[in-house]
Amino acid sequence: MKDDFVTALDLGTNKTCVLLGRKGEKNKCEIIGVGCVPISGLKKGVVIDLKKTITAIGTVVEQAEKPRNLIAHSLFANIGGSHIKGANCQGVVEISNKNQEILKEDIKNSIRVARASGVSADRGIITTIPQEYIVDAEKEIKEPEGMVGQKLETKVFLVSGKKNPIQNVETCIGDAGFGLEDIYSGALASSEAVLTQAEKEIGVFFLDIGAGTTDIIIYCNGMVKEINVLPVGGDHITNDLAIGLRAPISESERLKKDYGCCLESLITDHKLEIPIRDSMGRSSKTGLTSLAEIIEPRMEEIFLLTKRTLDRSGCSSVIGAGVVITGGTSLLKGIEELGEKIFKMPVRIGKPRNVIGFEKNIYNPIFSTAVGLLQYGLKRREETEHVPRFSQNNPLVRFYKKARRTFNDFF
Ligand SMILES: Nc1ncnc2c1ncn2[C@@H]1O[C@H](COP(=O)(O)OP(=O)(O)OP(=O)(O)O)[C@@H](O)[C@H]1O
Ligand SMILES: [Mg+2]
Repeated sequence: MKDDFVTALDLGTNKTCVLLGRKGEKNKCEIIGVGCVPISGLKKGVVIDLKKTITAIGTVVEQAEKPRNLIAHSLFANIGGSHIKGANCQGVVEISNKNQEILKEDIKNSIRVARASGVSADRGIITTIPQEYIVDAEKEIKEPEGMVGQKLETKVFLVSGKKNPIQNVETCIGDAGFGLEDIYSGALASSEAVLTQAEKEIGVFFLDIGAGTTDIIIYCNGMVKEINVLPVGGDHITNDLAIGLRAPISESERLKKDYGCCLESLITDHKLEIPIRDSMGRSSKTGLTSLAEIIEPRMEEIFLLTKRTLDRSGCSSVIGAGVVITGGTSLLKGIEELGEKIFKMPVRIGKPRNVIGFEKNIYNPIFSTAVGLLQYGLKRREETEHVPRFSQNNPLVRFYKKARRTFNDFF
């Protein structure tokens, strides 16, 4: 069953989040439902607890459906984790028809050849991005259909992941009673929601720093050059605070969000006394400098790890737009200043663009992946070739849910 809106599911390490949306005015994405819970069955971006993930998916979809009494049957979902990798591949085909005119079928075949050469048997391709076509010796062709030639070469960027984590996401969605329209890289989704075309053209180093992972994408000349996911994120900062202050995780998380700063030199109030409760339940006090002394080295380490990907890519000299950071950890005070110190480039915080409805809540780096997935879903739906990965296997599950909800509302 096809819904007349798109449902995007962001499975994060820190939260499970769903957005319902449709195409709004000026081609913007109109959000018509939001569900988010600070619960997840994931660690470092991969599912480790199926039951918890299934329950969280059911809860957030119901939250998002309820205000407008909608019923979602199938989802677009993200995949993350450090098993996600990108690779440049190419496929070559001979043009066999007698006019030697390149047809749609030849382009598809060359992409098929490139995909076949791209990944090992234990990995699945998540996304294929055609980058450039070469007809005979003519390079940098964007649209070869209708051109004449003997040989078509297609360069593609393949994003792939290990089959087991992908399978686990599929299982959770199926067992929660939904169909799966498509799985898309969370990193790509997030970058597409946040970056402008101009930034992609002049070169940008994009980071989505979440709770358990940091997604890295490098764009140059409007194309993806590199994608990498590191198993580090805001949870590491919280854990460091918990150890350094001997405080519970929940208390450390609160201190990080309310008082944390990742650049000690920005602190002006050296006298502020912040009450904390340690893991034995005893009250004590800390200061802004003490927190920053713990946070700064960890945030610096995360940045330096991402910088290795940039240095290895050979693209450092063509990053004209600088660094764009999104994800929940981009809300950490001082992150732009620390980033500029380390990367020696301008840094900006990226928030989802081109969305309407629920705007105030959604205009937040935490929702970048979900908004990007929604935009991806709206685009995919328009393609005639779009075939869902699997349909809802038991539509009655959702029917009963709706009936139960109506019944509850009535009484
Ligand atoms: N105001 C804030 N200051 C500092 N950190 C914050 C703030 N708000 C949220 N965070 C941190 O952001 C992280 C959550 O971000 P996000 O929701 O993007 O992660 P996620 O998508 O669940 O995880 P991942 O993408 O790594 O799987 C947590 O570590 C949280 O502590
Ligand atoms: Mg995330």
